[in-house]
Amino acid sequence: MTALKNDTLIRALLRQPTDYTPVWLMRQAGRYLPEYNRTRARAGNFLALCKSPALATEVTLQPLDRYGLDAAILFSDILTIPDAMGLGLYFAEGEGPRFERPTQDAASIGKLHVPDPYGELRYVIDAVAEIRRALAGRVPLIGFAGSPYTLACYMVEGGASDDFRIIKTMLYKEPALLHRILDVNAQSVALYLNAQIEAGAQAVMVFDTWGGNLSHDAYREFSLAYLARVLASVKRDHIGKRVPVIVFTKGGGLWLESIAGCGCDCVGLDWTTNLADARRRVGDQVSLQGNLDPMVLFSTPQIIREETGKVLASFGDGPGHVFNLGHGISQFSPPEHVAVLIDAVHELSRAYHHDGD
Ligand code: CP3
Repeated sequence: MTALKNDTLIRALLRQPTDYTPVWLMRQAGRYLPEYNRTRARAGNFLALCKSPALATEVTLQPLDRYGLDAAILFSDILTIPDAMGLGLYFAEGEGPRFERPTQDAASIGKLHVPDPYGELRYVIDAVAEIRRALAGRVPLIGFAGSPYTLACYMVEGGASDDFRIIKTMLYKEPALLHRILDVNAQSVALYLNAQIEAGAQAVMVFDTWGGNLSHDAYREFSLAYLARVLASVKRDHIGKRVPVIVFTKGGGLWLESIAGCGCDCVGLDWTTNLADARRRVGDQVSLQGNLDPMVLFSTPQIIREETGKVLASFGDGPGHVFNLGHGISQFSPPEHVAVLIDAVHELSRAYHHDGD
């Protein structure tokens, strides 16, 4: 495969020197882009878009054609795994993801199986290979999966939830049932990420969107332990190249030291954590990704530049920072403000990278 023309992201993830701070955005291919909405309309709906490798490739590249981003992220969803387990994923307009058959009792949980990445999930693996060909080495491709716990939240609740009452009832009353789901999920996520790496993903990210809603002790037992299991089984080298792994627990800033010790190369942070403090706490163990409040994109170009400058300054000098938002970009973000942000990161970050560090 073609050598990377821009490997800034991979170098920063591995805490190697770069000329500037690389930047990409969670949900960079999405509804804030008019061209995304047009391709989605051609596909019919979001799931059909995910299931077409050709159209998933098209939308993955759309933000790269507009902005000087330093990475592409596979266009897909974390819920492909439970969908492949047979739970019946669908998206009700304006309501987010839902499952026809949530797994709430011993019988349905006992029947859960680990999906074959080359079987039910073949469309994702084909998309990875097609995106790599289309990128032709422009920037690295990030693959991803949901964390075992975050997937379990959707599988048990049957969709999004305000209070996670059903899964937390299971966690406290019948922890063995939840452990069984998490065990199947951890195996599924590891196999799925390894298949993405084999197909060409050059870095991978695990999204633990709901881990931050657990108590201190429950986070360790029900999310972190399974993240560590995934990390222990993920391939870290592919055709002679190191494949860095990013772990992002939204709301996990208080547990940063433990997350940094789970076996990942980089910890993603939401906007509630100060990067200078985070850096002091993790030392040279991992790189850090984040963490601009996505709502900054609704301000003005001048304020966007200032806020970007503050995030860069809080990380400070030297390698090991990947600029990102602290969570996914809002569908209402003005596309021209995204250009301001990307340019500001590239321009302002040069002052923090010097020869030899
Ligand atoms: O970052 C990227 O550009 C890659 C694509 C990507 C999507 N979802 C596309 C998507 C990624 C990495 C995800 C991850 C994902 N999916 C997460 C973890 C990250 C996070 O945001 O916390 C979660 C929790 C999901 C589940 C999911 N999928 C939700 C909650 C929703 C609804 C969100 C909403 O704003 O309505 C989705 C749908 C989804 N996934 C969309 C996109 C672009 C919007 C669907 C559409 O086009 O209608």
